[in-house]
Amino acid sequence: MVVALPKGRIAKEVLGLFSQIFGDEFQFSGRKLILEKQGFKFLNVRNWDVAVYVEQGVADVGIVGLDVLEELKSRVFRLWDLGLGKCRVSVAGQVGEEVEQRFREKGKLKIATKLTHLARSYFEEKGIPVEVLKLNGSIELAPLVGLSDFIVDIVETGQTLQENGLEEKDVILYSSAHFIANPNSFWKKRGEIVHLLHQLKEALPTERRAVISQ
Ligand code: PRP
Repeated sequence: MVVALPKGRIAKEVLGLFSQIFGDEFQFSGRKLILEKQGFKFLNVRNWDVAVYVEQGVADVGIVGLDVLEELKSRVFRLWDLGLGKCRVSVAGQVGEEVEQRFREKGKLKIATKLTHLARSYFEEKGIPVEVLKLNGSIELAPLVGLSDFIVDIVETGQTLQENGLEEKDVILYSSAHFIANPNSFWKKRGEIVHLLHQLKEALPTERRAVISQ
């Protein structure tokens, strides 16, 4: 079975869970991108790419944030919300500047974001015309230098917004890491996938499990 694991902010917690199942030596050594263990092949991929590897069936299962799944509209089975890597996708802007007011003044807003589909559908639902500018990082800079009126971005602790004189205006989506499967793989390898799912649930600290089951 092939498992796609994410690099980045949820990597540490996710790798921690897998080391509980597969032993202390569970790590990608150096710059290696593939780890083989106990009949499993683990792929070390960017958070965004986990959904692509699983959707394409190159990986049978993977762990990825709900924000990515919703943005990419990935056709995968969402088997379990691990409750790790909690964050939200929010509309944010300079303190005191309101979306509706700015819209009335300008008629059309500029929005900077990595999450272009989520941003577009949010403003479309509100009936607010927008020009969406796709950026790849440091999104919070855009409204500070006049590149955009507002941003749509991931907020975890809120520290980046706060340190840059920005604030959340609205929450579009609450996100956390999900265990996903390729639909064909799920039908073919259902037993193995469900077994891994149970192992992950067992490995999750009990206080986390309690939070998730609420
Ligand atoms: C993400 C996100 C925000 C920040 C939010 O960026 O885009 O900038 O984290 O986290 P906070 O609420 O805890 O401050 P990331 O660190 O992934 O880097 P990026 O700027 O390259 O997107």
